[in-house]
Amino acid sequence: MQAVQQLMKVFITRRIPPEGAKLLSQAGVCEVAQWDSDEPVPRAELLKGVEGAHGILCLLSDKIDAELLDAAGPNLKVISTLSVGFDHMAMDEIKKRGIRVGYTPDVLTDATAELTVALLLAAARRLPEGVEEVKNGGWSSWKPLWLCGYGLSGSTVGVVGLGRIGLAIAKRLKAFGVKRTLYSGRTAKAYAGEVGGEFVPLDTLVAESDFVVVSCSLTPDTKGMCDQAFFSKMKKTAVFINSSRGTVVNQEDLYQALSTGQIAAAGLDVTAPEPLPTDHPLLTLKNCVVLPHIGSATYSTRGVMAELSAQNLLGGLQGTDMPSELTF
Ligand code: NDP
Ligand code: DGY
Repeated sequence: MQAVQQLMKVFITRRIPPEGAKLLSQAGVCEVAQWDSDEPVPRAELLKGVEGAHGILCLLSDKIDAELLDAAGPNLKVISTLSVGFDHMAMDEIKKRGIRVGYTPDVLTDATAELTVALLLAAARRLPEGVEEVKNGGWSSWKPLWLCGYGLSGSTVGVVGLGRIGLAIAKRLKAFGVKRTLYSGRTAKAYAGEVGGEFVPLDTLVAESDFVVVSCSLTPDTKGMCDQAFFSKMKKTAVFINSSRGTVVNQEDLYQALSTGQIAAAGLDVTAPEPLPTDHPLLTLKNCVVLPHIGSATYSTRGVMAELSAQNLLGGLQGTDMPSELTF
């Protein structure tokens, strides 16, 4: 008589695109429990949901720390996050317990770079202000001095963190006639030649760029990196863009820089906290465009992210290769 194989237990912390859920249900190796909502799972439910799980498919809004790992218990083999960023996970604790981690690099690079360029153009060319003026009757005539902004042609762009997304942003911006591309980071990149990138110290980048685009990962080194000292070195005509993580920026210092004219404008796809409270001072500023963390939000990208995160999870459960395993 054939032994009945026990299904492994998986907890998915949110409603995800069907491509991912389908792969898991077809694999026949796990039984899936899910927080079946578009809104985040409350912490108590999350801790309950992961109890005894062999695998967890989580999002960047779920804090994966020692408490959660303890709640999951010794069965846990794999955590697969539906994101490329992994700053929400206590990697040292995860490593200590020998748990494998999957993430979703590359598949969201184009969508995030595209959105970052859209945000840059929106902030630099004052698109939300213009749309608002059309609606509120402020558009009285074509006026030579009205709603002028800053163009990319002939400009210097500084990319803080020329990784996958930083490079994809720089490539796209080249097509707008950017003259110089500077970048900063821990190490010079051989592939920077693809965009004629010049590796410079952060201070040089900040002082010489007309557009400063932050696309680095959040680490202890980059946390709070964009602060008063940073903004004070920027040109008064420069535009600041962040599509990495909110806590890379000191938002009080950014508010000061924007409200006193120390810098021209900012565009943020990420904030701290998320959501940004609707009474936050940054939202009172016309020269600050804030988006709700939608860098990777295209239908196809989210579908592929879900698929990849499911494949990663299955690899971790079965002890086989994961298509995108985070090695640490
Ligand atoms: P990569 O790992 O390819 O790039 C991260 C880059 O950060 C690396 O080039 C690294 O450079 C750089 N970096 C690390 N430390 C520093 C530092 N101290 N100063 C400057 N740069 C530094 O990741 P991705 O490009 O795929 O993603 C980057 C980040 O974008 C993610 O971690 C995530 O936080 C964010 N993201 C946001 C999205 C959104 O929706 N807004 C969507 C997807 C990602 P080096 O190698 O020299 O250390
Ligand atoms: C990520 O993947 O890290 C983004 O922030 C969301 O796609």
